Amino acid sequence: MAKASKRESKSSRSTPHPARTAIAVVIMAAGKGTRLKSKHPKVLHEIGGKPILANVIATAKKVVPARDIFVIIGHEAERVREAVAATGVNFVLQAEQRGTGHALMVARKALLPYDQVIVLSGDAPLITAETIRRLSHFHTAQKAAMTLLSADLDNPYGYGRVIRKGGRVEVQAIVEEKSATAQQKKIREINSGFYAFAAPALYEHIDGLSTANAHGEYYLTDMAELFHRARKKVVAIKTPDAGEVLGSNTRAEMMMLDARVRLAKCRQLLEQGVTIFYPYTCVIDSDVEVGADTVIEPFVQLLGHTKIGQDCRIRSYSVITDSVIGDRVTVRPGTIMEDSRVAAGAVLGPYSHLRPGSDVGEGAHVGNFVETKKIKLGKGSKANHLSYLGDAEIGEGVNIGAGTITCNYDGVNKHTTIIEDGVFVGSDSTLVAPVKIGRGAYVAAASCITEDVPADALALGRARQSVKPGWAREKREKRR
Ligand code: UD1
Ligand code: CA
Repeated sequence: MAKASKRESKSSRSTPHPARTAIAVVIMAAGKGTRLKSKHPKVLHEIGGKPILANVIATAKKVVPARDIFVIIGHEAERVREAVAATGVNFVLQAEQRGTGHALMVARKALLPYDQVIVLSGDAPLITAETIRRLSHFHTAQKAAMTLLSADLDNPYGYGRVIRKGGRVEVQAIVEEKSATAQQKKIREINSGFYAFAAPALYEHIDGLSTANAHGEYYLTDMAELFHRARKKVVAIKTPDAGEVLGSNTRAEMMMLDARVRLAKCRQLLEQGVTIFYPYTCVIDSDVEVGADTVIEPFVQLLGHTKIGQDCRIRSYSVITDSVIGDRVTVRPGTIMEDSRVAAGAVLGPYSHLRPGSDVGEGAHVGNFVETKKIKLGKGSKANHLSYLGDAEIGEGVNIGAGTITCNYDGVNKHTTIIEDGVFVGSDSTLVAPVKIGRGAYVAAASCITEDVPADALALGRARQSVKPGWAREKREKRR
């Protein structure tokens, strides 16, 4: 925001620019989430494939830099901190969770230096940066002590209700569900749990909060009434998209939010030129990227930080996690892939299993029931049927016959198999690592290779076949 106002001031030199406001964003994430009946903290449950809290932080970072973001942690504080530490935000410990008001009390030292404090809820991940900015600007324009974001819900049950002064912009109080009168429960305008405060006013009055309520907690919502009594301005701005403020207090609510996030993700990809058949059956995480003209068939999962190029076809029942796929790649049905890379024009599946560290070269094939782990498969090489390839460096133009196995594990250590360019490995070969097959060599079918094979050689690692003519006929006759 500081950046934006700088730009504005440059472009409009004639008009005096408004005094810059130092803005902090605080995210309340210390609660347990009792209503989820979970041993994991609420804010670490996932929506769109990442922790709810990570969603909120990502949005907050679009509004202020990470150094001005403060996350209140308490329940399972270390786990929560660790899960989102990479975002660069600050943490404030609320060792005992005595309510949303108390959360802001413990953050006094961190927040008091700011002019404005925007409060977000760590369990409401659909809020957009645009709405947060609107809330902030409205607060500044109204010169209010407290501005809350409200929304009209068809079913306001469970939320705090906004008590307005006869339909005006000013707010008198927020009444929690448990304390609301029958009349107040009919109010459909709810408190979203997102606020902007004037920091000095907040900390001048916050000690006036009490725990005399249904939960015996310090409610941040009571600040509305406190300010109102102190003749400080409290206003509400209504968001037109009530969906943005939904919280995830129960599993059912969480699933609804997840579905919304994923559908929005599909819409975004469709707009970018990706075809998705039956998007309701696909699971695509928020951070996934897909290039134009790629086709995603029903029942595909694209997870984590997966990146897929253009003109690919991802066929049904494939599950792709944290992988990078180039352009024009075909992923046939039932392919499972994790932490792997696939270059342009490659063909995978059906039923390939690429485990972490698989690196498939340009135009290479990995086929039916082939399992790979920590391998490099060179350009144009093919492993089409029923193989296990682990800890292997395979060059270009190599043919791996059906049923080939790299014996990479001796029970204690893993060893590497090296297969150089142009090698032909016959079907049903076992390559006992460490072992190297030189450039252009042949391995005869059904060989057990325990020693290095020089370039251009033929290696036969099997017993010579012997034939006993008439043996079977004699056996049959004897039996009679
Ligand atoms: C709160 C509001 C309610 C509003 C609703 C919107 C209060 C008293 N009520 O209710 O008016 O309609 O949000 O979703 O604020 N937290 C802490 N420390 C605590 C307690 C909670 O950090 O001591 C965190 C929680 O982890 C959560 C957030 O604050 O992320 C909101 O708390 P929650 O208990 O979910 O409040 P609601 O009952 O939803
Ligand atoms: Ca909540």
